Amino acid sequence: MGFAVSAATAQTIGFSQIGSESGWRAAETTLTHQEAEKRGIDLKFADAQQKQENQIKALRSFIAQGVDAILLAPVVATGWDSVLEEAQEAEIPVVLLDRMVDSSKDLYLTAVGSDLVHEGNVAGKWLVDATDGEACNIVELQGTTGSSPAIDRKKGFEDAIAGHDNLEIIRSQTGDFTRTKGKEVMESFLKAEDGGKNICALYAHNDDMAVGAIQAIKEAGLKPGEDILVVSIDAVPDIFKAMAAGEANATVELTPNMAGPAFDALAAYMKDGTMPPKFIQTESKLFTPDDDPMAVYEEKKDLGY
Ligand code: AHR
Repeated sequence: MGFAVSAATAQTIGFSQIGSESGWRAAETTLTHQEAEKRGIDLKFADAQQKQENQIKALRSFIAQGVDAILLAPVVATGWDSVLEEAQEAEIPVVLLDRMVDSSKDLYLTAVGSDLVHEGNVAGKWLVDATDGEACNIVELQGTTGSSPAIDRKKGFEDAIAGHDNLEIIRSQTGDFTRTKGKEVMESFLKAEDGGKNICALYAHNDDMAVGAIQAIKEAGLKPGEDILVVSIDAVPDIFKAMAAGEANATVELTPNMAGPAFDALAAYMKDGTMPPKFIQTESKLFTPDDDPMAVYEEKKDLGY
């Protein structure tokens, strides 16, 4: 790894954010600004509006400006080699936030994120227990096609339900991590499955899609959380509201504070060359209605989601 180590802590850091597709993403953006401010870092923020080409442009602009380091939340997993090589040639360390890339590990300093396969696994295990051997047709709302959370959360869930013949994924489509698409796709699932009578559970790769789908289920005259079980990922405030209303059953928490550990790793690296581990893992915790959802909602509602 050939990045330069400067004597001082990083002062100017570029952050290429994916966009604002979900409540979780909004919280990550807010917290990154707050964590930068706490440390006196000048954060250069670029919103890519869900487009990889915009992220690549932003990275090239950060490189041209000579920033001290770059944070990258990569919208999809592939296609980063060239621009990461350019950053490496310019001796600018890159830290990945919340999503992974399929490039060589030598091209970035570290990645801060959760175990995305594990998250899907936790969601799947919850459903295995909740259904307790009863036959259950599942519909799945996938995240953004080609993104590491969509790929890994799908795999983790499938691994968890494998061997449980009572459980079957009967429909699976992307809802692009947004409420609007989550609702739209759930409407089409309900229509195709006898108005929803043939569906027993929804697995959504994030809470925002689940919240959109809950609305669609209600509009179809069914009770989300009862007629159709709802399990998703992120733990955004609105899913706790839904849980308190009996309309959602489980969520797996993803911490939005990825920037704190990223800035700490960069500071140590800049100070004396301390190499962080290649992956800094954040926790994933399962929440259910037993966890006092209204109290969790109150705790989270002003955190920037
Ligand atoms: O990469 C993390 C995922 O991206 C979050 O779970 C989702 O809400 C976001 O859009």
